[in-house]
Amino acid sequence: MRNPIIAGNWKMHMTIAEAETFINDIKEGIKGTDVEVVLCAPFTLLKDMKLAAEGTDIKIGAQNMHFEEKGAYTGEISVLHLKEIGAEYVIIGHSERRQYFAETDESVNKKLLKAIEHGIMPILCVGETLEEREAGSTKEKVKLQVEKAFAGVAPESAGEVVVAYEPIWAIGTGRSATSSDANEVIEYIRSIIEGLYSSEVSEKVRIQYGGSVNPGNVEQIMNEADIDGALVGGASLEPSSFLELVNF
Ligand code: PGA
Repeated sequence: MRNPIIAGNWKMHMTIAEAETFINDIKEGIKGTDVEVVLCAPFTLLKDMKLAAEGTDIKIGAQNMHFEEKGAYTGEISVLHLKEIGAEYVIIGHSERRQYFAETDESVNKKLLKAIEHGIMPILCVGETLEEREAGSTKEKVKLQVEKAFAGVAPESAGEVVVAYEPIWAIGTGRSATSSDANEVIEYIRSIIEGLYSSEVSEKVRIQYGGSVNPGNVEQIMNEADIDGALVGGASLEPSSFLELVNF
């Protein structure tokens, strides 16, 4: 039985004060849920969020990291920095990073390996563009992304990775994939992982859907057999809306 995981991806939003208020506003509302709750925020918020979340089950995550531990990489953040402030998750390979910051399958793989090495759990994002979907190459695209991302990941770690299937055309557009379309691709991703490892690993890996998830569609999405959670941008920015997602 996989434990559902709902993660907010705050992108380049929120201040420290807003983040603290947010955590205070949701902490009662998430009590007793078996859903794992993660907030992925800008780096400068993480330490204060970790403190604000003390004594709750809210986990804190980053949205990116470098693949080296240290070195002459001006402006970058390493896994050691994330570990130091108690982050437990890191989003890796979000399509916005692939698109605007030249992230490649190779750098995604290196980041994944480095995060795992230090016990920070990656939320690995994969997904196709609209052109790829229309050309019928969705599965081909995600297969390549998944295979490249997992290269060199040991079986005992692979099961811990969270994968987020995020069709790029559904992100921030208000146009979510239908739950059955999302489930079909997610089921396929699970079969790829089974091929790379074993059914034991693929049954353990949690796979989220992301792309215009909101309080109105979350229940249907979460009812799909292979969808284990959601990675949510816009609808994760308001405490009331985020609570509705967690308590789907
Ligand atoms: P959205 O973003 O929920 O605003 O579509 C999802 C994401 O980018 O992870």
